[in-house]
Amino acid sequence: MKKLILSVLLATSAVPVAALPAMAAPAAQPWADRSLDAAARADLLVKAMTFDEKIQMVHGYFPPLAKPAKKMGMIPSAGHIPGIPRLGIPTLRESDASLGVANQIEQRKGDTATALPAGLATAATFSPELARAGGVMIGAEARAKTFNILLAGGVNLTRDPWNGRNFEYLGEDPLLAGVLGGEAIAGVESNHIVSTVKHYVLNSQETGRHVLDARIGEQALRESDLLAFQIAIERGRPGSVMCAYNKINGHYACEQDALLNGVLKGDWKYPGWVMSDWGAVHSTEKAALSGLDQQSGQELDKAIYFDKPLRAAIKAGRVPQARLDDMVRRILTGVIASGLMDDPVPATPQPIPLDDHADVAQAVAEKGIVLLKNEGELLPLARTARKVVLIGAHADVGVLSGGGSSQVRSTGGAPVEIPLTEGEAASFARVTWHASSPLKAIKAALPGADVRYVDGKDPAAAAAAARDADLAIVFAWQWQTEAQDTETIALPDDQDALIDAVAAANGKTLVVLETGGPVLMPWIGKVPAVLQAWYPGQRGGEAIANILTGAVNPSGRLPITFPASASQAPRPEPVGLAQLKAMQAAKAAGATSNHGVSVGVESFPVDYQEGADVGYRWYEKTGQKPLFPFGHGLSYTRFTYGKPEATGGAAPTVSIDVTNSGARAGDDVVQVYVQGGADAPTWRLAGFARVSIDPGRTQRVTIPLECRTFARFDTAQRGWVVDGGPRRFAIGRTAIDHVAEGTITLAADRMQP
Ligand code: BGC
Repeated sequence: MKKLILSVLLATSAVPVAALPAMAAPAAQPWADRSLDAAARADLLVKAMTFDEKIQMVHGYFPPLAKPAKKMGMIPSAGHIPGIPRLGIPTLRESDASLGVANQIEQRKGDTATALPAGLATAATFSPELARAGGVMIGAEARAKTFNILLAGGVNLTRDPWNGRNFEYLGEDPLLAGVLGGEAIAGVESNHIVSTVKHYVLNSQETGRHVLDARIGEQALRESDLLAFQIAIERGRPGSVMCAYNKINGHYACEQDALLNGVLKGDWKYPGWVMSDWGAVHSTEKAALSGLDQQSGQELDKAIYFDKPLRAAIKAGRVPQARLDDMVRRILTGVIASGLMDDPVPATPQPIPLDDHADVAQAVAEKGIVLLKNEGELLPLARTARKVVLIGAHADVGVLSGGGSSQVRSTGGAPVEIPLTEGEAASFARVTWHASSPLKAIKAALPGADVRYVDGKDPAAAAAAARDADLAIVFAWQWQTEAQDTETIALPDDQDALIDAVAAANGKTLVVLETGGPVLMPWIGKVPAVLQAWYPGQRGGEAIANILTGAVNPSGRLPITFPASASQAPRPEPVGLAQLKAMQAAKAAGATSNHGVSVGVESFPVDYQEGADVGYRWYEKTGQKPLFPFGHGLSYTRFTYGKPEATGGAAPTVSIDVTNSGARAGDDVVQVYVQGGADAPTWRLAGFARVSIDPGRTQRVTIPLECRTFARFDTAQRGWVVDGGPRRFAIGRTAIDHVAEGTITLAADRMQP
């Protein structure tokens, strides 16, 4: 598989821009000179543009509502910004692309693409290489479909287990989300197209996402969500940053001067452009002066603020002309730096190596599925198993996917698709299964066995079918979607009762969870094995079968904490749920929002009282024991660790010998945690590495530590500060199960904000 991924990587990564054949710049087009840097070329272009051309670049159409979409050559997708042929500026065609080239509610009939598993599955691989391979794959498909701006790179941290978009993101830890997000972005951009990073910042819940006011202090924000963005931007160099819907400390994210002009463009010196989320703009002058560079999906806002009103504001001197020039320069800098100007996407759709791409999706699933429990080594499935019963979740035909703008119409189509009749997501989401049948895959893997499926609607019938089987596998599911939070993290549709009934009938019951995040497991003591399959993507059935039969040794690790009860999390349910319900009730029955852009709920605060202590740090701080901690994940082999050695100073590392002391080859994820300073002494993931080790072999692993994970952000001195001196570090099997601890001597250090 590794070989395959590599070949996909090599086949689809475009040559670096610098390596493209140098083209002499015609005297009239000095910006075509590739020896100049992107910002300098962008600057030359801006100088050649008319006022109208500049305005044209700073607002984008939403093709489903734009008129005349067809005449303007728009592809039904998220966005369209007409190019300027006389200057060689390409038309910008935007597509959602968190998990593949999206095609929500099949707006482009028959246009399928490769669907990766949920972002959480990618996060669970703890593999920068796989995250990059996923990005490379998505970027290659987008390019072949003539898209050149991808709305990808979601790195919002999981603060709440019920957030409807957790499945799209990369978990609760800033280092993990930042590194993997950055790699995915770099993978997309290796195709000479642009990727965003999104949603900047604190779009941490969907309930009231257009109006809520996320409240948090600067230090806490820098040390958590902003750190994930900072690392992702450094590693991935996205051409664009998408500002979020919500407010942060009283200001809409797309008009948050301190975060856009201050942190992003000032402290981080980000050279690209800030595009709004779709329906996230509320003003002209405030937004323009606060750092927004482009209004996206303009038909979803109350006004096309960045057209006529912006022209008027500039003419009247309320927005300086230089600001407009800066907006355009930034857009063009992102476009040129990605390679998109010099290596334009094809004019018509091109063939795609679908089999290779499906292998990438399968590899991510196989390395990201997490074996949560395996009592009595129920798994891998004995080759002697004669009778296996699969129950529920349409496991006969497919695997579940998450809903919203990230929805991919996968290559095999959608064997089950359930429209929504109500709720904020109804206009653009359907409950959709990818055509990857666990039943078919398990049958193929166990040719001698009798493998059956029952739908699980009737627990008694399911229990009867399970009674005399060698193994009963209940597929349990929970659907998540953008625009709505899951009101409870309990499994829906009485599935707990189904699991109880099957487990009572057959002691060898395995639960496979197809969920967008953590769910409660009141039955955990009654079943010997649980596999967290997330939404496993378009080869999910095959990946699950390979893990169950032992063809693949499970190696995923949880990128989020699984709470033992809803009350353990900082907020047991979505904030603002009551207001949302009242608004929905007041509307005519079935009234929905467009593209998840709802109106009618008054702004309400969400106080992130946990501050930077997100996820496992919250559990440590409040002394609570979760059901499964961050970092947890079992294997069919055993890994033992030698004594760790740390080198301190300003670039600290930890080295350790890892031995595979079991009988099968397998991958381990070595996790290094470091304690925060005296003011906030919770443990933080400071470094990690995935290693493949053959049985009986030992591998030495050296892991560089990311100092900002355990530094403190000093708001008075405006920068990161590492207090010198001894600090505790640990090698953890999970965030709380430390197999070895030691002391590292840190050098006092200050880092740029
Ligand atoms: C989502 C974004 C998405 C955009 C365009 C918004 O509703 O929040 O993630 O990129 O729509 O589809």
